[in-house]
Amino acid sequence: MSEVTHCVSVILAAGASTRMKSRRSKLLHSVLGRPLIHWSIDLAGWISDKIVAVVGHQKEELIAAIEPLNAENSFRFAIQAQALGTGHAVQCAWKEIEEVSTPESMVFIMAGDAFLLKRESLEAFVEHHQATKAQLSVMTFESRDPGAYGRILRNSQGQIERIIEKKDATADQLKIREVNSGFYLVNRAILQEALKSLDNKNQAKEFYLTDLVPFCRKVGHLVQTFLISEEEGLGVNTQNDLAMVTRIMRDRINEWWMLNGVHMQAPETTWIETDVQLAPDVTIAPGVLIKGRSKIQSGVQLGAYSVIEDCEIGESVVVEPYSHLHQAKVGAESRVGPFARLRPGAQLDRRVHIGNFVEVKKSHMSEGSKANHLAYIGDAEVGRESNIGAGTITCNYDGISKHPTKIGDRVFIGSNTSLVAPVEIATGAMVGAGSVISKNVPADALAVERADQRVIEQGAAKFRQRKSRG
Ligand code: UD1
Ligand code: CA
Repeated sequence: MSEVTHCVSVILAAGASTRMKSRRSKLLHSVLGRPLIHWSIDLAGWISDKIVAVVGHQKEELIAAIEPLNAENSFRFAIQAQALGTGHAVQCAWKEIEEVSTPESMVFIMAGDAFLLKRESLEAFVEHHQATKAQLSVMTFESRDPGAYGRILRNSQGQIERIIEKKDATADQLKIREVNSGFYLVNRAILQEALKSLDNKNQAKEFYLTDLVPFCRKVGHLVQTFLISEEEGLGVNTQNDLAMVTRIMRDRINEWWMLNGVHMQAPETTWIETDVQLAPDVTIAPGVLIKGRSKIQSGVQLGAYSVIEDCEIGESVVVEPYSHLHQAKVGAESRVGPFARLRPGAQLDRRVHIGNFVEVKKSHMSEGSKANHLAYIGDAEVGRESNIGAGTITCNYDGISKHPTKIGDRVFIGSNTSLVAPVEIATGAMVGAGSVISKNVPADALAVERADQRVIEQGAAKFRQRKSRG
């Protein structure tokens, strides 16, 4: 930026979001795991250190959603008790704007519902505003389908005269393709004057912020426009808009990762939230969702339709299709899935195998251990190179409290075993299939807990004879 002029941002977030047909404010709806308002705040934060958020509809929920971002105490909240229009919203914020700025400051005003503007465009907007010595600048874009956006009216010299809302426009005006993006820069002293001039003499009976333009033109202040791409100007008014902007943001994130060496087989089906970290040479099959603060190392293969949330995944791990991993740590070269579930506190060391229909919760499995089929491992500590057979269940819950299971190194647990916790199977021990183990098993011992088998010679043949006689 050429000169450094202090800039305060005002985010308009008090509207009722009626077109969303949702009980929640559109600004609380999630875009790739974050409320929409967080994205707008990021954007404002690129050019300003003070942000005034105007809230009204669902203000408690919005303030609660914004507060976590307020570590540096950079936010002020202004209350607009009744949504009487975008201009009225800024009027309600005036006291806060004044407190955090100087008369020379610039004020960046934005609708809270648009956040696809890129940082370089926003910085260029500020530069343009300053270089042209404008008092007011409006970002515009050419829309293929101008819908409900305000149309930009220009005079014969091409200067902006005013912005006309759809409801107030004539049929000819509705044909105008250049529209208002809802991002403005205005010098504070001018804003103060202009706010006093607003009225609600329009179809919506609202105080329109867009009327800053005719005010400035009338008193001879310079008004500039700054053209951005349609994509960057899109705002969210309906659920369709929300899906569209989310798709655009998803594509931007995916493109960035692919430029950084991530291999996506079908990026149009891959969803990666913003706090995720991926190393080069991660391969992502179709339909994968990676959420939260997941960190995925090089060489990892994520199988189709897997969901990974807040996980750490070590080098060269293979996650087979349809696995669900949440708050788990997976050591290098391990294999998980297909259809595996790692729940919070699952910690796998190197070369661990967790196979189909195996659930692991709050358990540590040491290097080389395996549970390949149909098992539940909860509150367990498993040593190295142990094998947990198909159908093994750690019975960790007695209906009142949870109990631990301890399994040593090189233990072999036969299929369909119930380990009734608290219980310990020491190093080198074996458990026979079908056992219900409720007492500790010492090292290198064999435990079998089942009734002796009866064999009735010719019993089956006799049974069939009886049946065929009728
Ligand atoms: C507004 C502009 C329109 C522009 C479009 C760009 C006006 C009059 N119209 O229309 O020219 O093309 O944005 O996206 O400004 N809000 C309040 N208080 C209110 C009303 C709205 O805080 O009383 C907030 C909303 O929460 C929203 C933002 O202001 O975040 C914009 O309001 P919205 O109703 O979406 O305006 P548009 O009809 O889209
Ligand atoms: Ca809007």
